[in-house]
Amino acid sequence: MTKGKVDALLGIVFGDEGKGKVVDFFTPKYDVVARFAGGPNAGHTIIFEGKKFVLRSIPSGIFDEGKLNIIGNGCVIAPDLFMAEAHELEVAGYSLTERLHISRRAHLILPTHRVLDRAYEAAKGKAKVGTTGKGIGPTYSDKAARIGLRVGDILHDFENKYAILKARHEQILRDLHFTDYDIAEEEARWMEGVEYMKKFQLTDTEVEINRYLREGKSVLAEGAQGSLLDIDHGTYPFVSSSSTTAGGVCTGLGVAPSSIDRVFGIFKAYSTRVGAGPFPVELFDETGEEIRRIGNEFGAVTGRNRRCGWIDLVALKYAIMINGVTDLVMMKSDVLDSFETIKVCTAYTKDGITTTDMPYDTEGWQAVYEELPGWKTPLDKLRRESDFPPAFTAYINYLEQALETPIKIVSVSPDREATIIR
Ligand code: IMP
Repeated sequence: MTKGKVDALLGIVFGDEGKGKVVDFFTPKYDVVARFAGGPNAGHTIIFEGKKFVLRSIPSGIFDEGKLNIIGNGCVIAPDLFMAEAHELEVAGYSLTERLHISRRAHLILPTHRVLDRAYEAAKGKAKVGTTGKGIGPTYSDKAARIGLRVGDILHDFENKYAILKARHEQILRDLHFTDYDIAEEEARWMEGVEYMKKFQLTDTEVEINRYLREGKSVLAEGAQGSLLDIDHGTYPFVSSSSTTAGGVCTGLGVAPSSIDRVFGIFKAYSTRVGAGPFPVELFDETGEEIRRIGNEFGAVTGRNRRCGWIDLVALKYAIMINGVTDLVMMKSDVLDSFETIKVCTAYTKDGITTTDMPYDTEGWQAVYEELPGWKTPLDKLRRESDFPPAFTAYINYLEQALETPIKIVSVSPDREATIIR
């Protein structure tokens, strides 16, 4: 953490890397915590003072009195879900209105965006993305089409702007013959959410952040989703619709590339993916089931089974390159405690071709593995690197060498104290 700089904390695979577990380790070091991309498709599970919270749009610094939290311009926000999320925090005793600033440039997710999300998915038949259904794609589409509604719009002539965009959506839904929906109740709550948002500071957050940086304050850019779900660099079209990578920090917060210092890349000791799309390391056997069971790999937002597999170095190397990762953070190492051997995907192969570079189209590629001995020792009680079983140290060393990036933090259990700095 450097004063006057932005550090990024990013999931670098398919999301769900366990950011929620480490943010309370990171956030105390920073003056400002900012979300720069995505919206309520994220679900950051945070346990604070013994109580569990799932943060979707609100940054993880919200539990800390002295910290400013920002929802940046690169985010999309659903007023009804935001209200529910904020209300839960307020009931738990966290006052938000002074400590949470929302960019006026962030886009609003309308109830009809969520219907469109469902309609587009239904129209795709077998090629479904498996979205979270939160209206993310349609909202970012409207942003790019320059017809979206922004947070700042709620302060001026909003009803009229809302009606125009809603009518546009309804026309598309009629064209798609997707008319069997009823948003009356949802819309009423959504409008309540819009009113509720007015009590927050809806500001030009890019100006604020840059002022803080000039004053020598430190900013943590908190990522959502993962690098391989990035609209440009992910496994398109099976991606989310925002810039989830380090570049998205600049566009999603309005900070210059030169203001970024450390880029922390979070990954798990194995791989998971929610939703459809290529996943060469996916295991369909008992080992995959074991990883899911031990790792409790069920979606925080949708409750869906996460697809599970061994670690994927092709994907990780690509993500490290795209993001300029300076420090790696390995989560959930203890999930692999019981395995006799641990496999590592070092390349992909298809039609006699083998590659260690991320292919343009990851569909149909098979993983090539190397096998390492398992450590067969519970890691969860360990708090010092010197106590690690040799096979676990060997796994870490192997990954560091292959990825040419240091693994600076290793997590060995859900406990806060089980976050070991190297
Ligand atoms: P969307 O972001 O709802 O449009 O979903 C697009 C794809 O990204 C789907 O495969 C989702 O399962 C996946 N996705 C979106 N958000 C997350 C997340 O926070 N964690 C993991 N996967 C996500």
